[in-house]
Amino acid sequence: MFVCLCNAVSDKQIKKAISDGASSVEEVQQVSNAGKNCGTCIYAVQEIIDREVGDKKENSKPEPKLGSSVKEL
Ligand code: FES
Repeated sequence: MFVCLCNAVSDKQIKKAISDGASSVEEVQQVSNAGKNCGTCIYAVQEIIDREVGDKKENSKPEPKLGSSVKEL
Protein backbone atom coordinates (compact mmCIF):
# COMPACT_ATOMS: atom_id res chain seq x y z
CA MET A 1 0.00 0.00 0.00
CA PHE A 2 1.31 3.43 -0.88
CA VAL A 3 1.78 5.72 2.08
CA CYS A 4 3.33 8.61 0.17
CA LEU A 5 1.42 9.17 -3.04
CA CYS A 6 3.60 12.06 -4.24
CA ASN A 7 6.72 9.92 -4.32
CA ALA A 8 5.13 6.46 -4.63
CA VAL A 9 6.60 5.17 -1.37
CA SER A 10 4.95 2.08 0.09
CA ASP A 11 4.62 0.96 3.68
CA LYS A 12 7.01 -1.89 2.86
CA GLN A 13 9.69 0.60 1.80
CA ILE A 14 9.19 2.57 5.00
CA LYS A 15 9.38 -0.59 7.12
CA LYS A 16 12.56 -1.57 5.28
CA ALA A 17 14.07 1.86 6.03
CA ILE A 18 13.20 1.37 9.71
CA SER A 19 14.65 -2.13 9.80
CA ASP A 20 17.80 -0.70 8.21
CA GLY A 21 18.11 1.73 11.12
CA ALA A 22 15.92 4.76 10.42
CA SER A 23 14.08 5.81 13.57
CA SER A 24 12.69 9.25 12.72
CA VAL A 25 10.65 10.81 9.93
CA GLU A 26 13.74 12.69 8.77
CA GLU A 27 15.77 9.51 8.52
CA VAL A 28 12.98 7.72 6.63
CA GLN A 29 12.79 10.71 4.27
CA GLN A 30 16.49 10.55 3.56
CA VAL A 31 16.33 6.98 2.32
CA SER A 32 12.85 6.85 0.78
CA ASN A 33 11.78 10.42 -0.12
CA ALA A 34 8.48 9.82 1.71
CA GLY A 35 7.02 13.12 2.84
CA LYS A 36 9.36 15.33 0.86
CA ASN A 37 6.70 16.91 -1.34
CA CYS A 38 3.28 17.91 0.06
CA GLY A 39 3.87 16.47 3.53
CA THR A 40 0.39 14.95 3.83
CA CYS A 41 1.86 11.52 4.56
CA ILE A 42 4.12 12.60 7.43
CA TYR A 43 1.68 11.48 10.12
CA ALA A 44 1.24 8.09 8.46
CA VAL A 45 5.03 7.72 8.26
CA GLN A 46 5.31 8.63 11.94
CA GLU A 47 2.63 6.07 12.83
CA ILE A 48 4.55 3.33 11.05
CA ILE A 49 7.75 4.36 12.83
CA ASP A 50 5.98 4.37 16.20
CA ARG A 51 4.45 0.97 15.56
CA GLU A 52 7.65 -0.62 14.21
CA VAL A 53 9.96 0.88 16.83
CA GLY A 54 7.43 0.03 19.55
CA ASP A 55 7.34 -3.56 18.33
CA LYS A 56 11.13 -3.73 18.46
CA LYS A 57 11.17 -2.30 21.99
CA GLU A 58 8.47 -4.71 23.18
CA ASN A 59 10.34 -7.65 21.71
CA SER A 60 13.53 -6.57 23.42
CA LYS A 61 11.96 -6.04 26.86
CA PRO A 62 13.50 -8.35 29.41
CA GLU A 63 11.14 -10.89 30.86
CA PRO A 64 10.39 -10.45 34.56
CA LYS A 65 12.44 -12.82 36.64
CA LEU A 66 10.67 -15.70 38.25
CA GLY A 67 10.11 -15.02 41.88
CA SER A 68 9.65 -11.27 41.45
CA SER A 69 6.39 -10.16 42.91
CA VAL A 70 3.98 -7.32 42.59
CA LYS A 71 4.17 -4.98 45.51
CA GLU A 72 1.54 -6.01 48.03
CA LEU A 73 -1.10 -3.47 48.93
S1 FES B 1 1.90 12.23 -0.02
FE1 FES B 1 3.92 12.11 0.75
S2 FES B 1 4.80 14.02 0.21
FE2 FES B 1 2.81 14.10 -0.61
